[in-house]
Amino acid sequence: MAQPEDNLPDPVKSIRPSKRAIIVGASSGIGAALARRLAEEGYRVALLARRADLLSALCEEINARAGEIRAISYVHDVTDYDSVPGLLQEITAALGGLDLFIYNSGILFPSGMKHFEFEKDRRITEVNYLGALAWLNSVAAMFHRLKAGQIVGISSVAGERGRAGTPAYNASKAALTCYLEALRSRLTRRGVHVLTVKPGYVLTDMTQGRKNLYFAITAERAAADIYKAIRRHKQVIYTASIWWLVMLVVRNISSIIFRRLSF
Ligand SMILES: NC(=O)c1ccc[n+]([C@@H]2O[C@H](COP(=O)([O-])OP(=O)(O)OC[C@H]3O[C@@H](n4cnc5c(N)ncnc54)[C@H](OP(=O)(O)O)[C@@H]3O)[C@@H](O)[C@H]2O)c1
Repeated sequence: MAQPEDNLPDPVKSIRPSKRAIIVGASSGIGAALARRLAEEGYRVALLARRADLLSALCEEINARAGEIRAISYVHDVTDYDSVPGLLQEITAALGGLDLFIYNSGILFPSGMKHFEFEKDRRITEVNYLGALAWLNSVAAMFHRLKAGQIVGISSVAGERGRAGTPAYNASKAALTCYLEALRSRLTRRGVHVLTVKPGYVLTDMTQGRKNLYFAITAERAAADIYKAIRRHKQVIYTASIWWLVMLVVRNISSIIFRRLSF
């Protein structure tokens, strides 16, 4: 449905104060597509990840297209937990405030059915879940105080069942989904919105070379769905939306059958 501001003439849009967003995990894939989309919609964005070259190129592209500085970047590893409170302060000061926070960082190591490797599982848990906790605690405290703000967590349909192929990845996303729901329960009463995003397959570095990517969508399409959900203050979305139906079925597959499936 069209929103009232869609009909505003361009000059009126341009004098609206711009919103400010942080995207953690913005150097590629869904995070980079979200950065482009938010900047196109007039947001000023702070983009974080480890790969400095990709972040700089993305900022240059966004700022050149906008004709003004709309994107700034910070090189950051989410497992550097102790740096998060100070970095959040620094970025919020640089942006002049914060309206929207997106935690998107995530990793997935392909693993064979016979491999049991703690080191990889620990790394997945640190990036996908502990890094999220480090950021979301700091951001939630800020928004709780302000009685305003929007938080978005990029989880996954993978968090809904424990699949044979990627146990630690699925567990990290289940934990993130549950944590986001709990944050929503705490923060809604303070006027803070929390959106959980559950992508199915998205064509990014993470899925490169993988087979059987059913209902796969581009990162741009995922970013468009996420942006729409941000505007509408949704609580949980699947992207592509067909995954809502797929997961309804998957959630109800009996364990007797599910544990025999090798995916
Ligand atoms: N693609 C899919 O099919 C799919 C499906 C469901 C959910 N998801 C989720 O969507 C999110 C984005 O993934 P994507 O598909 O867009 O893959 P991607 O292109 O590989 O993006 C992953 C992002 O996470 C960042 N990241 C990884 N390790 C990090 C670290 N230690 N510190 C800071 N940032 C780190 C990467 O930046 P640097 O490497 O530069 O640090 C990159 O920006 C992930 O949470 C993923 O689990 C993806």
